[in-house]
Amino acid sequence: MFGWSPFHSLRARLIASYAFVIFLSLFLAGSAFIYLLRTYQTEARLNQFAGLVTPIAGQVWTLERQGSTPAQMSDLLREQATEMKVRILLLDSSQRVVVDTAEDSSLTNQEVSLPPKQDEHFRGSVRSGLYTTSAGQRIRVLWLPPPSRPRSPALDRLIPRSPQLSVALAVQPDDLATAWLELAPHLAGAALTSLVISTAVALFISRSITRPISQVTVAAEAMARGNYDHRIPAAGADEVGRLAATFNAMARDVGNSHRMLRDFLANVSHDLRTPLTSIQGFSQAMLEGTIQTSEEYKQAAQIINDDSARMRHLVEDLLYLSKIESGQVNMERRKLDLADLLRSCTRRFAWQAEQSNIRLNVDITSAAEVEGDGHYLEQVFANLLDNALRHTPVDGEVTVRAWMDQPPTVDGWAPELPRLDAPRVVYVAVQNSGSHIAPQDLSRIFERFFQVDRSRSKTASGSGLGLAIVREIVQSHRGAVAARSQAEKGTEFLVMLPAPGPSPQQRRSYISWQT
Ligand SMILES: Nc1ncnc2c1ncn2[C@@H]1O[C@H](COP(=O)(O)OP(=O)(O)OP(=O)(O)O)[C@@H](O)[C@H]1O
Ligand SMILES: [Mg+2]
Repeated sequence: MFGWSPFHSLRARLIASYAFVIFLSLFLAGSAFIYLLRTYQTEARLNQFAGLVTPIAGQVWTLERQGSTPAQMSDLLREQATEMKVRILLLDSSQRVVVDTAEDSSLTNQEVSLPPKQDEHFRGSVRSGLYTTSAGQRIRVLWLPPPSRPRSPALDRLIPRSPQLSVALAVQPDDLATAWLELAPHLAGAALTSLVISTAVALFISRSITRPISQVTVAAEAMARGNYDHRIPAAGADEVGRLAATFNAMARDVGNSHRMLRDFLANVSHDLRTPLTSIQGFSQAMLEGTIQTSEEYKQAAQIINDDSARMRHLVEDLLYLSKIESGQVNMERRKLDLADLLRSCTRRFAWQAEQSNIRLNVDITSAAEVEGDGHYLEQVFANLLDNALRHTPVDGEVTVRAWMDQPPTVDGWAPELPRLDAPRVVYVAVQNSGSHIAPQDLSRIFERFFQVDRSRSKTASGSGLGLAIVREIVQSHRGAVAARSQAEKGTEFLVMLPAPGPSPQQRRSYISWQT
């Protein structure tokens, strides 16, 4: 089963199936052609023989008129028979064979029953019929009966009395049946030519089918070796082309997630190593006695405490993020008014805003009802407000707005605003003045650990996980989040959440009421 097989490759199997189909169609077409040709060739050969009878008979009658006996005509007839490759029978008036040009002259003196009627196939008066010899051999006889009486005075002058002799050709039925064989070499030649041409076409087609597949195989092997940048050249819009395009998309996604995983590990280890180094350094100094005064001890303990708090914060954020991502968090689905939630959340940041003299505006005109988990949604807005306040310069402004149904203008959002599959949508925008994120960074800020200016953010103790958490929570509420930033207007984050609308039943009655 696993041994060597000539059909081990797809290409070999394709070529074999093409060859089989070509052979089968040639065989069927050839058989049909030969069948039709056989009948046609048989009739053509019969006509050819029939055409020979008349001149021979004319000659015989002329000789007869001149007084030649059948024995005298015999040599001439034999000569003609050899020349024309036919068997000539000379018959007397009682239809007895007087000359048979066959080598054994087996029909001489035999009475041949001649066809009584004219064969409808022949023009002229040649008659054709089958005759069984005394030896049991079946032959076809083509006979031209002597004219019964002269038909015109001119003929009367030529043939003064009705001829007594008549001529027949004896044809072996096999000779007729195998007439088509004359064409066999031509047929074989045509079959061979078409076989060669169609095999060449089959080779070409099988190559064009298998080449992209082997390209996919090479690319898959490259991917297995860890090379995610290998791409398959575009191969049209057919199934193979789509396979190549899908493979390329898959290779890109796998490459991206592989890169993200690598970056993630690098970021985690980097973010843990920095505080760990400082913790180890200060604790070692304490042990070795480098730190002596109680004031220095206090400072070192403070640093160790801050750094371990930062590490704990990072680990907690990571655990939190992976829990939400893997769907382990049970989020409540309760109706809640976002207006209330936003007001209470903003109040928590009032003190922080005051410290930097930042104006914190809340602009909520209507009730914004959503179905979700208040605890997690509060974290979303707390993260956004924390970011906004940290990136707003002194004397700047932060505005929180919430409204329903009216989508904002579409320009500038990264990622593009999706259409939520919900009867109504609640929009919450957190906007701050004075900060600008460049477009190339804007498309990445929701990635884990991404920080626009990592070195500066470090001092502010951020880890770059806040917006990734925001996105995960919003998405698990079947919502979406996007950002846009302009140098003069500042930065704005938009959260879209599906709002519970009227139930399908209510909607139906509403529609029927309207119409
Ligand atoms: N309102 C804003 N204005 C300008 N840049 C912002 C704003 N909000 C976020 N960013 C940029 O996006 C980056 C990612 O934000 P994110 O909240 O994910 O991380 P972080 O605030 O640095 O750390 P963490 O929130 O985990 O403590 C920030 O480092 C900052 O560069
Ligand atoms: Mg943040």
